[in-house]
Amino acid sequence: MENDDFPPPLKVGIAYNLKKSPAGGACDMEAEYDSYETIAAIKNVFESAGLYTALLEADSDFTEKVKKSGVDIVFNIAEGTNGRGREAQVPAILSFLGIPCTGSDETTLAVSLDKAMTKRYLSTFGVTTPNYQYVEKPDFVLDKTLRFPLIVKPDSEGSSKGIADFAVADGEKQLFEIVRRDFEVYGEPMLIEEYITGREFTVGVIGNGGGISVFEPMEICYLSKERENRIYNFRVKKDYKKYVTYKCLSDAGSALRGNLKDTAVKIYRALKCRDFSRIDFRVSDGGTVYFIEINPLPGLAPGYSDYPMLASLCGVDYRTLLLSVLNSSLSRYGMEPVAVERGEAQ
Ligand SMILES: Nc1ncnc2c1ncn2[C@@H]1O[C@H](COP(=O)(O)OP(=O)(O)O)[C@@H](O)[C@H]1O
Ligand SMILES: [Mg+2]
Repeated sequence: MENDDFPPPLKVGIAYNLKKSPAGGACDMEAEYDSYETIAAIKNVFESAGLYTALLEADSDFTEKVKKSGVDIVFNIAEGTNGRGREAQVPAILSFLGIPCTGSDETTLAVSLDKAMTKRYLSTFGVTTPNYQYVEKPDFVLDKTLRFPLIVKPDSEGSSKGIADFAVADGEKQLFEIVRRDFEVYGEPMLIEEYITGREFTVGVIGNGGGISVFEPMEICYLSKERENRIYNFRVKKDYKKYVTYKCLSDAGSALRGNLKDTAVKIYRALKCRDFSRIDFRVSDGGTVYFIEINPLPGLAPGYSDYPMLASLCGVDYRTLLLSVLNSSLSRYGMEPVAVERGEAQ
């Protein structure tokens, strides 16, 4: 039952960073940014629920724009502009201005974007993560306790940036070549991590406090036997139909399922995540669950990003997912949730 004559009181700003290069470019430099289609899809969902929306591109005029916009809450998907703490920039501006914002706060976003720092922090909570070394320059002394193969990734990137086809080294010479090349491209500290062969899962968490729930773990099932096609990098994601299938681990009797879900909640709570997050794991052939990384600002591109995909595999459509995230946030601020009405398939 919708009554469009009655203007709803809630005005939702959508904060985003737009991809500037032509769609479908091969380069991963803007991989974290969103396309106009994603922003339009989010806008449509909120408008279909009777809400007003305001588009707020997170550029240098963002502070002025958001102040003038009169929004009640900002639905944040902005990756920010520069630096290691870029994902924290929009939530920091909004908390400075006292404007409600969906998703995790600036502290969680800043820490989580630094993969090594997050691994170190979570290990104090007993979370198992692959052994690693953090390197700040291309000529470093390799920690001899690390066991090959080793994977090299920029420490503070997302969307598989820098995880190229030749990110995995079987020996020292190859490793130094990869690190040198990555420094040239990314110019930032690198994380060298023991490569875990085995199954890969990503787990979506939603809600706050006692209302936290977890979607069924989504397995990324690789179709190829070759290692370079068993890494969820930019090339594999772009052409995912060729390289992977996705499956939910919903078998109630599976100990692995329980382990992944419990570990995901533990991580979510430890990092004080808010509203929603997505957490990546690898499970070794021996059954050990390894935390790989957390995405407290997961991509929301419909039909492409993992979070909407895992929700859909659990019977939760895009609209329901977005409104549920918004409602988690509204409840957190003591504001009235919006009606989800259709799509409550769970
Ligand atoms: N230690 C590891 N062992 C095995 N595979 C890994 C490891 N680290 C990363 N990968 C592979 O690389 C992909 C991207 O790495 P991830 O750390 O999740 O970065 P991103 O932020 O780019 O998603 C993972 O989904 C996984 O396929
Ligand atoms: Mg990842």
